[in-house]
Amino acid sequence: MSEAASFGAAHIARGIGRMSTHVLAKGQGSYLTTDTGKHLLDLTSGIGVVNLGHCHPRITAAAQEQVGTLVHAQVNIGFSLQQIELIKKVLRHVPDRSLDSVLFWNSGSEAVEASVKLARAATGRQNIIVMQGSYHGRTMGTMAMTKSKTIYSTGFAPLMPGVFVTPFPYYSQLGVAPNTPTDKMVSLCLHQLRLLLAQQTAPSDTAAIILEPVLGEGGYVPAPKAFLEGLRSVCDQHNILLIADEVQSGYGRTGKMWAIEHSGVRPDILISAKGLANGFPLSMVVSRKELMDKQGPGSMGGTYAGNAVSCAAANAVIDTFEQDKILDNVAARSKQMFDFLHQLQQSGSKAGKYIQDIRGLGLMVGLQFSQDQGASSSSLPAASSDSTAALYLFEVDGTKHAQLAPQVVQECLKRDMLLLSTSTQDVIRFIPPLTITEEELAQACKIFKESLEAVVSRL
Ligand SMILES: Cc1ncc(COP(=O)(O)O)c(C=O)c1O
Repeated sequence: MSEAASFGAAHIARGIGRMSTHVLAKGQGSYLTTDTGKHLLDLTSGIGVVNLGHCHPRITAAAQEQVGTLVHAQVNIGFSLQQIELIKKVLRHVPDRSLDSVLFWNSGSEAVEASVKLARAATGRQNIIVMQGSYHGRTMGTMAMTKSKTIYSTGFAPLMPGVFVTPFPYYSQLGVAPNTPTDKMVSLCLHQLRLLLAQQTAPSDTAAIILEPVLGEGGYVPAPKAFLEGLRSVCDQHNILLIADEVQSGYGRTGKMWAIEHSGVRPDILISAKGLANGFPLSMVVSRKELMDKQGPGSMGGTYAGNAVSCAAANAVIDTFEQDKILDNVAARSKQMFDFLHQLQQSGSKAGKYIQDIRGLGLMVGLQFSQDQGASSSSLPAASSDSTAALYLFEVDGTKHAQLAPQVVQECLKRDMLLLSTSTQDVIRFIPPLTITEEELAQACKIFKESLEAVVSRL
């Protein structure tokens, strides 16, 4: 650990978990450099934020210019030129033309909370339905809506009331076989949703259904088109609003600007953050003006909401998408990644046998390990109390098994690559920068394979 890292470990709040003790000093494209000069291949994009790579030259230049022009154009004081320009550009790319009114904020959680305020104001109803496995943030309001892991809310009750959970079509959560037909899982989930509306939260009390079109922290599981269509029809039937939380899945991550576009389903409210400004704090809620107009002037806003430097960066992000054909690279690299993972799975190797499921869209790729190949905990390192090295244990038929994903992450770290696991299940998530080159991705795949082989060789 470097001296800076030791200082950080001693003085930064313990509640901030961390996968490594690296001190990140510089970033360029798909690489980060540490304070000790190590180059790290970044397959996390800072958790899906620097979609266009670290310190993209066009975005850096736009922000630098704005810093010398105007930093703080407060939203409750007046309009900001950078915001107006950004709204014009954003409206060119919304998944449905009906979405024509924008509200900026700083973080994803704030935007989610703003969408709840909007849904409540627009419908005059209180309750919100979330998906099992959802992640919407860790603030006081969003913590109640996050259902991916108990760690985010344990000990912090009372939580915001009025939140109801409905099943999401993901075999591990439904407790069905991985090869269960999608349409069967979809009809099961829609049946449960209808029951929820009949038994627990009446439509007349229900303001919105919110979901991530690709379940993120819940395991990188794309919502099937039929499920999204079913949600739309339930919402239409009961005048409930459909909110798409695209904080992680938006901005080209899945090969389209918005993940919900893969289904053609229209959301009433769209939430974005993360990739929106490629690392500058900025989030956004987009909806119909008729809904937004239900909120009284002054009921929304915040000191830093829609900061001018962040908006300048966000303008450069859209320019880059439009001028550099980013989505073409996503399509090519996505194919490269899926081809590699499928080949590894089908190779007949020991490592391949542990791969149960490869899923995702674009460069939002999840890989789930199979549990029945797992060795018993006696042959695996004991779970450490240090959260950076924690091995999650799950139980199959009374035997405790250590998950492979956190171990693979640690092996990748030893080989100077940053990779994340996700969910309570045994899942790796690949979120490389959308600008990653063919050679860089080939290198990442090689490191992943070596890391997985190192882990399974111990089993
Ligand atoms: C889908 C989704 N919604 C909301 C959030 C919360 O965003 P933030 O961490 O910016 O508050 C996240 C963060 O990972 C997310 O993935």
